[in-house]
Amino acid sequence: MRIVLVGPPGAGKGTQATRLAEKLRIPHISTGDLFRANISRQTELGKLAKSYMDAGNLVPDEVTIAMAKDRMEQPDAEGGFLLDGFPRNVSQAEALDELLQTEGIKLDAVLDLEAPEDEVVKRIAGRRVCRKDSAHVFHVTYSPPKQEGVCDTCGGELYQRDDDSESTVRTRLEVYHTQTEPIIDYYRAQGLVVTISAMGPVDEVTGRALEALKSAE
Ligand code: AP5
Ligand code: MG
Repeated sequence: MRIVLVGPPGAGKGTQATRLAEKLRIPHISTGDLFRANISRQTELGKLAKSYMDAGNLVPDEVTIAMAKDRMEQPDAEGGFLLDGFPRNVSQAEALDELLQTEGIKLDAVLDLEAPEDEVVKRIAGRRVCRKDSAHVFHVTYSPPKQEGVCDTCGGELYQRDDDSESTVRTRLEVYHTQTEPIIDYYRAQGLVVTISAMGPVDEVTGRALEALKSAE
């Protein structure tokens, strides 16, 4: 399957993507994680991305689209993929459509995770991610690691993302409403959107997502 995950920062896209990718046997492609990996390797792309990310703004389309395209063209993504955090505005959605058209493939669904603002703010405030791989995500109260400060999956150090500060989160939410939400209408026009509530325990949300995706197959 080829799926796009959309939803406000902190809704649980990364958390759900890890689980769904495993169940559906497709790679989880997160542009946020790809940028963070570049930041920790101190690449030129990482340096550029960091200035935008720390301010809560989108990284320019040109570099983002090139990076996402490169990742989608890796052999493991041939049979399908789960996109998390891309596309994030209408021009990225148009670029993705063009790419898919060139390859003669189509998206199967756009899974829209809905969560109220006060909840996403709480989720972000307590989030801790792994230094080795920011796809390993925990929460100090909702999903604490077995040992404080240590990643259950790989033993890496857990830290608070630089863009999870209160003022940056406010900008990220605003950017979501103004730039990302319009892609929901864009995909609705293509009949691809399935909306589910992201509230409740993580496993329940995964069950809801799998159920919703079945109807999109
Ligand atoms: P990105 O990394 O994509 O961040 P985001 O969209 O703001 O989303 P988050 O990762 O903050 O939240 P999430 O929905 O993944 O939630 P999570 O699963 O972690 O992007 C970061 C930046 O990179 C952007 O601001 C931009 O600068 C740049 N960027 C990335 N892509 C771009 C693009 N395409 N174009 C341009 N720029 C781009 O969960 C949150 C917390 O809640 C965790 O602690 C988790 O444990 C907890 N949690 C999850 N589910 C539940 C639950 N059901 N109940 C209780 N707690 C839960
Ligand atoms: Mg994420």
